[in-house]
Amino acid sequence: MSKDSTANIITVALTLCLVCSVIVSTAAVKLRPIQEVNKQLDQKINILKVSGQWQEDRNIEELFSAIETRIVNLDTGNFDDSIDLETYDQRKASKVNELSINLDKDIDVANINRRANFAKVFLVKEAGAIDKYVFPVHGYGLWSTLYGYVTLEKDLNTIYALKFYDHKETPGLGGEVDNLKWQSLWQGKKIFDENDQLAIKVIKGNVVPGNENEQYQVDGLSGATLTSDGVTNMFHFWMGEHGFQKFIHKVRTGEVL
Ligand SMILES: Cc1cc2nc3c(=O)[nH]c(=O)nc-3n(C[C@H](O)[C@H](O)[C@H](O)COP(=O)(O)O)c2cc1C
Repeated sequence: MSKDSTANIITVALTLCLVCSVIVSTAAVKLRPIQEVNKQLDQKINILKVSGQWQEDRNIEELFSAIETRIVNLDTGNFDDSIDLETYDQRKASKVNELSINLDKDIDVANINRRANFAKVFLVKEAGAIDKYVFPVHGYGLWSTLYGYVTLEKDLNTIYALKFYDHKETPGLGGEVDNLKWQSLWQGKKIFDENDQLAIKVIKGNVVPGNENEQYQVDGLSGATLTSDGVTNMFHFWMGEHGFQKFIHKVRTGEVL
């Protein structure tokens, strides 16, 4: 058989395909645990940053040791220690029927369709006592679901920081949620008003200094009202009765902790 025969060409091409596919699949399988570890480290960095604990030159695990991770049952507001902290993935759980609930349209203000039954909360300690709480949150903007963390001061009302780590909003428009200047506007804003009603809102335009709702208002992202509304809705869902509100009330009344 000639070296350039059709059969020979096909054999060489097929062998090459087979060898390449084995290499690619082996690499994918071998790299998966490393990717998983990097993903978890990345989340730890996000949590350290949003809670003001991040220091570039310090070891991540060492810094994270000041943060206690607990799991909250969102329906009761109680901690649940029966779930494995290392393996629990809220994002994956929200896609599993047995681990999540379907949200009817009237309560699904953040447009997320399903909500996991359990959520992690991160307790930031100072001198052994809780100083801040970091909550994972997500909600739909214009093009995508925005995933992030909200840190609250120990009064569980005052916002310390907000940071997103995953979204597909348009750079320069909705993507401005990542702008540090905009993110800094959240510090000190209040979520609940004096009647304990959800009041936080990303408004259209700029907040008028001195107006009676200033402490609940954040400047809108210009040209991106839909993403801005998505952020407001996200807060209203996760700080509301189907989110962390039961937990928040129980901590405030001392029923939890
Ligand atoms: C290509 C393109 C990308 C856009 N991306 C966003 C976005 O990421 N977030 C958003 O709220 N609006 C985005 N918009 C604008 C919305 O369609 C809508 O006009 C806007 O949210 C209204 O906000 P405004 O009232 O502040 O102008 C985009 C528009 C275009 C044409």
